[in-house]
Amino acid sequence: MAEYHKQLSSDAQKIPEHVAIIMDGNGRWAQKRSLPRVSGHREALKTIKRVTLEAQRLGVKVLTLYAFSTENWKRPKSEVDFLMKLPQQFLNTYLVELIENNVQVRVMGDMTRIPQYTMRAVSQAVEQTKSNTGLILNFALNYGSHSEIVSAVKKMVQDVQARKLDPESIDEDLLADYMLSPALPDPDLLIRTGGELRLSNFMLWQLAYTELYFTDTFWPDFNEEDLRKAVREFACRQRRFGGLNGKGGDNK
Ligand code: IPE
Ligand code: IPE
Ligand code: MG
Repeated sequence: MAEYHKQLSSDAQKIPEHVAIIMDGNGRWAQKRSLPRVSGHREALKTIKRVTLEAQRLGVKVLTLYAFSTENWKRPKSEVDFLMKLPQQFLNTYLVELIENNVQVRVMGDMTRIPQYTMRAVSQAVEQTKSNTGLILNFALNYGSHSEIVSAVKKMVQDVQARKLDPESIDEDLLADYMLSPALPDPDLLIRTGGELRLSNFMLWQLAYTELYFTDTFWPDFNEEDLRKAVREFACRQRRFGGLNGKGGDNK
């Protein structure tokens, strides 16, 4: 195992700097066991901890986890309530261990609709870990790309009206700064568990050149080896970014 980590990190370029995961399949995991859907969500917390620590060991710098989408409010209130209690439960159980591992917790999404107890737990975790220098664990909570883009446009228009922004200066980098992930590199690898082949309104701007990896494994069953398998597959992909060789461009 240690040998494996060494081997992977010896070629640091092949380790995705930013991994984003659509953690899907909790409900079906539970249904398969004749359990209520929420027990799948509860089980999911263990996977988050497992995958976070393994990502850190592999040398991943940023791990973004899609925890709740702007569309998930459509679910029955009892399930939404349960989901909104999970951040608090996760942090109560695992924050100490995350801190021991130097993990930095962040959150990305529209926080206006998040219940106070959820916000309190998340803000405390963000505050307590803000000086940590290890893996950035970024939770996408009440996140949706369309809402993110609408907010970015609104904010830009306001800044133009307030004469803080010259419309002529708007370019791709500037627009990226108005998104919810301004300080993070775009994901290199996107993993979706649970078998669906879609993005479900997740990081549409940021995923423009991300390598996509889909697995049928339900999120509660996803383990360290599954993550390593995805990273191995990533290492075999050739990224061209529209050129013939890679990011820097070929005409140098
Ligand atoms: C993912 O699992 C968790 C959230 C979307 C919050 P699901 O709850 O979507 O599980 P399935 O897709 O119904 O199995
Ligand atoms: C995507 O899963 C959202 C999260 C994992 C938080 P969904 O289960 O909500 O996606 P759809 O409805 O199948 O597209
Ligand atoms: Mg689902």
